[in-house]
Amino acid sequence: HTKKDFIYEGKAKQVYATEDPNLVIVYYKDDATAFNAQKRGTVADKGEMNNKISTLIFNYLIGKGIPTHYIETINEREQLVKKVDIIPLEMVVRNYVAGSMAQRLGLEEGAKSPVTIFDICYKKDELGDPLINDHHAVLLGAATYEELKEMYEVTDKINEALKELFLKANLILIDFKIEFGKDSEGNIILADEISPDTCRLWDKDTLKKLDKDRFRRDLGEVSEAYHEVYNRLLEAVK
Ligand code: C5P
Repeated sequence: HTKKDFIYEGKAKQVYATEDPNLVIVYYKDDATAFNAQKRGTVADKGEMNNKISTLIFNYLIGKGIPTHYIETINEREQLVKKVDIIPLEMVVRNYVAGSMAQRLGLEEGAKSPVTIFDICYKKDELGDPLINDHHAVLLGAATYEELKEMYEVTDKINEALKELFLKANLILIDFKIEFGKDSEGNIILADEISPDTCRLWDKDTLKKLDKDRFRRDLGEVSEAYHEVYNRLLEAVK
């Protein structure tokens, strides 16, 4: 497949057309943004690591029967994926208290939640991706109740599969965000990426953060953390 016209640039990726109208090429950049792009920077090798980590995770999830946009990895920074219309919702799963939920609820980070927490956010940069509920999503026309039910079910399945995978890499999956899209046949499939940009991952023994929080919070050793996650996952799936 050949890379054709540039279609879209996001914060961490670019999307290009191919000669096939149903397929696009995703290019993973080293750019990093946080806090609705108020903080910007680059992380050495991040694009390459996220491409490799995402590839490994998509293949793992496909093996578990999860429908995804992933087709194949072309090179160190590019994937061939199905073209989808992104559903403008961020599906967030929280297994432990952290991040914006810790802030919003006045809780300390790090406690295991007795229940799996599902949050949805409306993807709208101008609004700073606000936390919404199912009724708001329907009001906004982002999804129907039936589509939301399907997305929650698949998201739960993905969480169970990912917890198991990351545990094999001695990592705790604190929380993560995924996005779904609709393919040309109208199927809802997992899209975007799953990487340390979109997951909180803590070392199981030391609780060291091995994810984008190292960039967000200026903790140092950011690139090293992405390399570490990739190397551990490679071992975990052997
Ligand atoms: O910031 P917050 O605590 O809500 O993030 C929850 C999870 O979703 C984290 O793993 C974070 O990396 C991810 N996230 C994301 N993209 C966003 C917001 C959150 O990948 N725009």
